[in-house]
Amino acid sequence: MITVGTGTSDDLGAIEGFAEAAMGPAFDHPDLDSAQRAENVRIVGMTRQACAGALDRDDATLLVARDEATGPVGFAIVLRTDPAMPEIDWLIVNPSFHGRGAADALMREALEWIGPGVPVKLGVIHYNARAIAFYEKHGFRDTGRIVGRHAIPRRLMIRPAEDGSRLHN
Ligand SMILES: CC(C)(COP(=O)(O)OP(=O)(O)OC[C@H]1O[C@@H](n2cnc3c(N)ncnc32)[C@H](O)[C@@H]1OP(=O)(O)O)[C@@H](O)C(=O)NCCC(=O)NCCS
Repeated sequence: MITVGTGTSDDLGAIEGFAEAAMGPAFDHPDLDSAQRAENVRIVGMTRQACAGALDRDDATLLVARDEATGPVGFAIVLRTDPAMPEIDWLIVNPSFHGRGAADALMREALEWIGPGVPVKLGVIHYNARAIAFYEKHGFRDTGRIVGRHAIPRRLMIRPAEDGSRLHN
């Protein structure tokens, strides 16, 4: 059984342990140049620091999905830096647990933490088809706009504001 709760510093080692396996294949593409490949390596290398940083911030949360046998199998970092449009900054699941509800549970908790009444944004690489399908399943829509200044551009997806009634379905 998978449960989601607030992360602690005890989760960081396990999270680091599956970060490369999760992000490596999803972020890779045969057409990438060396700067884009280096960016992917850098992002994987930032995982622990990003998670630890979220633990210390009032405007962010680290959510961790835990399997009762395996321990941490996924995490999300959610930012309320802009209260008018909070952001799902990271959402990463151990590939062994893809399609098994961990990501759904993280998304539910993320939306719960954000609360109703505001739109939610995120950035996703355009060829990350599984992530895009996942986000669409949860009500996010591709705006066609680029967000941030990445070597591999991120498409801005937004989930419109709604009341809280759908979040528990
Ligand atoms: C993105 C991620 C968190 C989603 O978690 P998940 O457990 O894989 O998600 P789910 O299986 O619930 O949903 C994925 C959906 O995409 C579908 N899918 C799978 N492969 C696909 C593909 N190549 N193209 C399109 N859709 C695809 C699945 O069928 C599923 O839809 P369904 O539930 O209607 O059947 C997870 O895949 C992950 O950690 N990926 C690597 C890290 C990453 O890319 N994170 C997002 C960064 S923005």
